Amino acid sequence: MKILGVSFGGPNGANDSMCKEALMGAKEMGAEIEFVHLMDWDIQNCTGCVACSRSLVSGKGNVCTQKDELDAFLDLMLDADGIIFCTPIFEKGATGLFHTLNDRLGPRMDRGINAFATELAEKTGGKKPDPRILKDKAVAFMGIGGSDWATKVQVDCGMLALSPAWKIIDNVTFSWSKNIILEPEKVAAARNIGFELAKAAADYENSKYIGEPGVCPHCHSRNFFLDPESTHAVCELCGIEGDIVINGGRITFEFPEEQLGHAHDTMSGKFIHAKDIQVNEMKNMENRKSEEYKNRVEAYKLFIQPTPPPHKRQ
Ligand SMILES: Cc1cc2nc3c(=O)[nH]c(=O)nc-3n(C[C@H](O)[C@H](O)[C@H](O)COP(=O)(O)O)c2cc1C
Repeated sequence: MKILGVSFGGPNGANDSMCKEALMGAKEMGAEIEFVHLMDWDIQNCTGCVACSRSLVSGKGNVCTQKDELDAFLDLMLDADGIIFCTPIFEKGATGLFHTLNDRLGPRMDRGINAFATELAEKTGGKKPDPRILKDKAVAFMGIGGSDWATKVQVDCGMLALSPAWKIIDNVTFSWSKNIILEPEKVAAARNIGFELAKAAADYENSKYIGEPGVCPHCHSRNFFLDPESTHAVCELCGIEGDIVINGGRITFEFPEEQLGHAHDTMSGKFIHAKDIQVNEMKNMENRKSEEYKNRVEAYKLFIQPTPPPHKRQ
């Protein structure tokens, strides 16, 4: 059983240290371990070319046009039975590099789209995506902040697991933690997360979330998109729609059972999304061939040219 630790922090900083602490816990549980300091890797931004979703929904594999070290990193992730991610908290959420990883892997790793693409390629004799994408995996997240601005980080972390439908074992935020290595309780918590993650990876079927319950009873998120005119609310992470209800001075989120079928992290919800993407992507490709579309793009091109960045100026 292999546990991969990924730190998004600076070299030998709080995130590297807590990631290694968690790996020590995983090792105690008998895991083979590996550590990645992701800032060292050449990971470029997503260009939004949508080659990944287009290739998947047309049965042509799982293509990314960026030529960097993402695929080598993906290989490590796909080979691991469990992954612990540690990100510094930047502007209340995860870092830019973490967001880049979310962008690069969001559509490409979506379990629903990949299952759909596998079926399609089998029917049409096309190219199947990497079968490891459809494997179960346990993951845990630690967000480590230098202050108490931390209200978005758990959702950012949860998004990374949502697309490939990885099971989240824990998703913890440590505030005021620049010197976390000097705080024995937090260090012990990090070690325990690694231990529990390895336990979950070794017995995936019986593993479950061990973190704080949060507010959304389905995905444990505490972040919601609220309607100012009613009690209607959308869970920011899993997308379930329901109502905010105050029960005995506590906030609860209640929703009809059928909403689970639409949730972004259930296979039924993913299939609905994959089908929607396929229909819209086909329409989009058709529209782009029309004269009207080409003329409009040309008009915007002619209207104003972008200011060249300094390295491209004569
Ligand atoms: C650009 C930037 C933004 C930051 N924003 C926050 C923040 O919103 N909330 C917070 O708690 N800490 C914030 N911090 C502090 C970092 O979270 C903290 O320095 C980090 O956890 C250190 O990680 P490292 O030692 O692993 O590099 C910020 C730091 C930087 C550089």
